Order: sequence, then C-alpha cells, then structure tokens
Amino acid sequence: MSTPHNRAENGDFAKTVLMPGDPLRAKFIAENYLEDVRLVNDVRGMLGYTGYYKGKKVSAMGSGMGIPSISLYAHELYSFYGVESIIRVGTCGGYSEKVPVGGLILAQAACTNSAWMQSYSLPGTYAPISDFGMLSRAVKTAEELGIRASVGNILSSDEFYTPDAEGWKKWAAMGVLGVEMESAGLFCTAAYLGKKALSILTVSDHFVLDQADLTSDERQTTLDDMIRIALEIAE
Ligand code: HPA
Repeated sequence: MSTPHNRAENGDFAKTVLMPGDPLRAKFIAENYLEDVRLVNDVRGMLGYTGYYKGKKVSAMGSGMGIPSISLYAHELYSFYGVESIIRVGTCGGYSEKVPVGGLILAQAACTNSAWMQSYSLPGTYAPISDFGMLSRAVKTAEELGIRASVGNILSSDEFYTPDAEGWKKWAAMGVLGVEMESAGLFCTAAYLGKKALSILTVSDHFVLDQADLTSDERQTTLDDMIRIALEIAE
C-alpha cells in the first residue's frame, strides 16, 4: 500500500502523528525523543518516522508549508493510514503583547484568509477549531510540566510576504494571538474526515513587541516544551 505522497505500509503510522512543518524537525523528534524508530516515508523528502515514547507508539512527519501542503499529507494519514489525531508543532509570528517571543500558543481555533475552504461549498463561513479533548489535555499537561501556554485564536495565512503591511492589525484587534500558515487546513481536514487535530505553536518573531527573533538556543528549549506536551497527550 502507498499513496501519491507516502510510501508507508498499512500499520506503519501510529494513531497520533506529530507534524512539524520542516521534515528535518520530524527527524530531530524521532532521533531525540523516540525509541525503536523506523523511517516510514521519504517521498519528496517529507520524512516520516514511527517509534515509541514511554512505550506508546507515536509518529512524526513533516507537513511542508502552507494549507495545501499540510491538508494533503493530513488527508492521506487520516484516510489511508488509520491516523486518528494529528498535532502540529510549529512556529508563528506574534500579534499579542500577552505572548512574547518564545511563548507557547495552544490554538483553540484558526481564522484564515485562504480560499482553500471554498472547496467544501458551505453555505456560510466555517470556523476551523481544534479538538477540545486534545486541547484540554494539552492545557493540563502544560500546567503539570510547569510550561506557560496561552490558549486562543490564531490566523492561518496564505501569505508570508504580503503587500498589505497593515492587515495584521485588524486580526490582532480581534484578539488573534499569532500568524502561521497551516492550522486552518489541518482543522478542516480533520473535521471533514471525522478525526482530531491540535496545533501547538511557539512565537518565533513578533509584530508588536520589539524583541529579537528566537536564538537557536531558545528555539531548542521552546521546541522541547512543544514536543513534550505533544508526546504526553499522544493517544
Ligand atoms: N508569518 C507567517 N508564518 C509564520 C510567521 C509569520 O510571521 N512566523 C512564523 N511562521
């Protein structure tokens, strides 16, 4: 068995898959947190691994950047590989003074400026949300591990470079905590297929606060916080 973008066999993936944007980060997760690891996909370099965390079978695979990319990979994992939950572990730009660079966001929902959802032909505007059970377990786990994490709304944008330099302020005025490029597509895909998803994000750069971007050391620590929360709540 395989799909156009995945060469894994039936049963190669765990029920829960951690999805960083960067496939090399999936490799990092596999090599540093999982035991008895196997490479299960490398089509187009989108590395996917399966191993064990505290005896629990867990997978990690890259999603690529943007809604079309994560939605495609998530669709195949959910539909063809029996995956039940996907946890995006990524970075975002900060829109709120309440969450500085290095802060963690547990995405309750994801607004979007993407036209991608139009393919569902809904007679209105869908509100992409994360799975409440996963979200509440992530909140509890963060508390138990002593990791500060903010819960709230984010924006999944189709643009990293945008001609509308002021547009972000309107989202920030609506209480949106930060911007990335994937979660809305992941949440819609999960909803459509009756599956579960959550996004855990680290603020890597900031639109409001005059802070330096994350250093590589800080990136490592916050990455560790995100990955620990994700692995602990994996089912
Ligand atoms: N925009 C979009 N995606 C991002 C950003 C950003 O500023 N930072 C990290 N991911």
